[in-house]
Amino acid sequence: MLRKKIDKILKKKAATWVQDDGIQTHGISNLIRWAKRYNTWRYAKRIKAHQRAYDCELDALMQGNGATADFKPSNIMKDGWAIDTSRTLPHLSELLEQAGEIVSERGGKTHSDVQQPFLRNIMFPGDMEKYPALLDFITSHEVMGTVMDYMKTVPVFSQTRPPGVRFMESNDALDPGSDGPYRASQFYHLDVHDTPLVYVLVLIEDVTMDGGPWTFLPMSTSDRAVEALRYQEKGVPYRVTDEAMYNVVDPAEAITFAYPKGTVLFIDSSRCFHYGSRKAIDPRFQLMYAYTSACRADFSQTFMSPFSAPIDEKDSRLRKMLLKKR
Ligand SMILES: [Fe+2]
Repeated sequence: MLRKKIDKILKKKAATWVQDDGIQTHGISNLIRWAKRYNTWRYAKRIKAHQRAYDCELDALMQGNGATADFKPSNIMKDGWAIDTSRTLPHLSELLEQAGEIVSERGGKTHSDVQQPFLRNIMFPGDMEKYPALLDFITSHEVMGTVMDYMKTVPVFSQTRPPGVRFMESNDALDPGSDGPYRASQFYHLDVHDTPLVYVLVLIEDVTMDGGPWTFLPMSTSDRAVEALRYQEKGVPYRVTDEAMYNVVDPAEAITFAYPKGTVLFIDSSRCFHYGSRKAIDPRFQLMYAYTSACRADFSQTFMSPFSAPIDEKDSRLRKMLLKKR
């Protein structure tokens, strides 16, 4: 009761703390510290349950989710990222098939859920039930194994910003401002939903340099940039121009996620600077999944209703823990 009351009090202010202006006014590091402190108290029960499960029951949870007793994830994130080019991850072939159906039906058209004119979500309500591979892929022991090896806890499927799964189309033909200057996430930035966190990006079609590929700096390079730019301090802009970034790091350190269909990127987008959707002359179709901890680094849970994913009674305990609503 008390927790809900305090959520209500914080609600209005908190909504401004996730906008670029609010971030710049207060400084990312302050906002993260305040949010972590509040959420540690607000969601204490779930945080403890997820940590205890990871510390004490990980093998049993993984085996209940399809892993063998000697399982080790085939991808380990190093310097904040890992790329899987094997195209053999569990449920990936069904995912590509089902996502391909969505592209044929909705790609290249305008829909109501426009995140940005240059980055559009083509998921519709009910898709997670209609296309089961969307969740089967992301809850598999392989993908969960890589994510948990990095996060050192049982994660939560992001329930506010961003929703745990988005299917993003970047397409200059749908963007009336494609000839103008870059906007929002077309500039380098670090995500602020949580830290550490993991994004899993899946290419649904081949992506070349003409598809506005996601581009990032490894964690060690990003750390240097944070320090040199005083990035998370008060008054420092949230978005970073190429000019400012390449003043402090070598452009050759940037990694471009331009790969064939079925390639998967695991990345901590709160620690690796990134941008994307620049000059997507060839439409780019990319699934974006977001895992956070049970203790997020923002206040979005005070002012947003949780995104909900379908849970079946027969689902594994690990999958239920990941998808459960707060
Ligand atoms: Fe981002």
